[in-house]
Amino acid sequence: QERTFIMVKPDGVQRGLVGEIIRRFERRGFKLVAMKFMHADEALLNKHYEALAGKPFFKNLITYMSSGPVVPMVWEGAQAVKLGRMLLGETDPAKSLPGTIRADFGQCVGANIVHGSDAIETADREIALWFKKDELIDYKSCVAPYVHAH
Ligand code: GTP
Ligand code: MG
Repeated sequence: QERTFIMVKPDGVQRGLVGEIIRRFERRGFKLVAMKFMHADEALLNKHYEALAGKPFFKNLITYMSSGPVVPMVWEGAQAVKLGRMLLGETDPAKSLPGTIRADFGQCVGANIVHGSDAIETADREIALWFKKDELIDYKSCVAPYVHAH
């Protein structure tokens, strides 16, 4: 099954949106595979966003992402990467459709509440970066006969 890496960013945690974001992935039928609560250091965040290292906003991005604790998660299901990005909305909350997390709660590109992998290969890389193998929990979903994605 396809897996994606989703992370509640520091502004999402501080504003009390952790439960809301988990709820949206749960009710969409995705299966939770891993989750933790941590304060990420700059070294980890530099690696996470290494593709953006040359961008003018990179330093602000790392400062923002290391300003408080985050909630990294792995969610599984059919087309988890693409559909996960649909639940998130666009990078810019102002360009996101109502009903997406970023349109409903995000404030600007620099404070957009949540991260989601942008491709299957990116998801694999990010999951390996944030989680050890034994933190990915293998269990049987009891709703599998009713939820296509499982
Ligand atoms: P992530 O899920 O966090 O990876 O966002 P994304 O995939 O929608 O966007 P991208 O990977 O291109 O950028 C990563 C993050 O950098 C964004 O979520 C923003 O927080 C920030 N960012 C991207 N573009 C800009 C920008 O033009 N200005 C500022 N200030 N921040 C930006
Ligand atoms: Mg991205």
